[in-house]
Amino acid sequence: MLVNATAMLQSAEKGHYGIGAFNTNNLEWATAILDAAEELQSPVIIQCTSGAAKWQTSFRVVADIVKDLVEDKGITVPVALHLDHGSYDAALECIKAGFTSVMYDGSHEPDFETNLKRTAEIVKLAHSKGISVEAEVGGIGGTEDGVTSAGELADPEQCKAIADLGVDFLACGIGNIHGIYPADWQGLSFQRLQEIKALTGDLPLVLHGGTGIPVDQIQKAISLGISKINVNTDLQLVFAAATRKYIEEGKDQQGKGYDPRKVLKPGREAIVARTEELIKEFGSDGKGWN
Ligand code: 13P
Repeated sequence: MLVNATAMLQSAEKGHYGIGAFNTNNLEWATAILDAAEELQSPVIIQCTSGAAKWQTSFRVVADIVKDLVEDKGITVPVALHLDHGSYDAALECIKAGFTSVMYDGSHEPDFETNLKRTAEIVKLAHSKGISVEAEVGGIGGTEDGVTSAGELADPEQCKAIADLGVDFLACGIGNIHGIYPADWQGLSFQRLQEIKALTGDLPLVLHGGTGIPVDQIQKAISLGISKINVNTDLQLVFAAATRKYIEEGKDQQGKGYDPRKVLKPGREAIVARTEELIKEFGSDGKGWN
């Protein structure tokens, strides 16, 4: 069932578990994520960046794929289709395209006032259509053009100001970064997470950069108020490894091993298996109907 992400994340916040928000790239990804969630009876968020939507042609195509899969596969658990790190224009586009949830990432705007103003506009429009909204305070670091920047710590007062706009969940930097963590990474700042939580109350908080954070840190973050964990690179790595193994074992050259369905199968199965592991680590298995 396609729903917005508000109720599932509020339940997660109250119940002290996390819900995985897994990035999709194509039909294989969306199918695998849905299969894992249904198998474990977990609510799930499938999210898509502007780049991955462009790869698939448009946000409308992504929305149609996910909607049709949920219907034709008979998926019974709650599924939210969410825009990941959207610009203002991308958020407007997804609201029209049939997404049930959007992230407007105003952390790249020239100043905080612009982030506030635009977040308020997106909240008003999205809520009038029953769509949930994620906002962001403070940039999430990561590797761009080979340069890795440290994870920022969001300002708790700014988090409170954005929370007061009525957003449904909030991404805030607590030392997390996108992509693979450098060897000298300092870990998550639980102190900053607690400071933010103290000011934002029961608003579900979002942890970006879920790939490679040690499980004990993820679970501690969940116990302190993180309700949504974003995972992208992790599923790309397991897909690539399984596909590489298939090719390196020469299986594509045996019989009809070159059939694209055979070539893609190990990668798709690897995504299902890893998504199931992550759902269990986050504790949302069996929570489809909470
Ligand atoms: P990773 O690619 O590090 O898992 O981050 C995903 C993410 O935060 C998407 O918004």
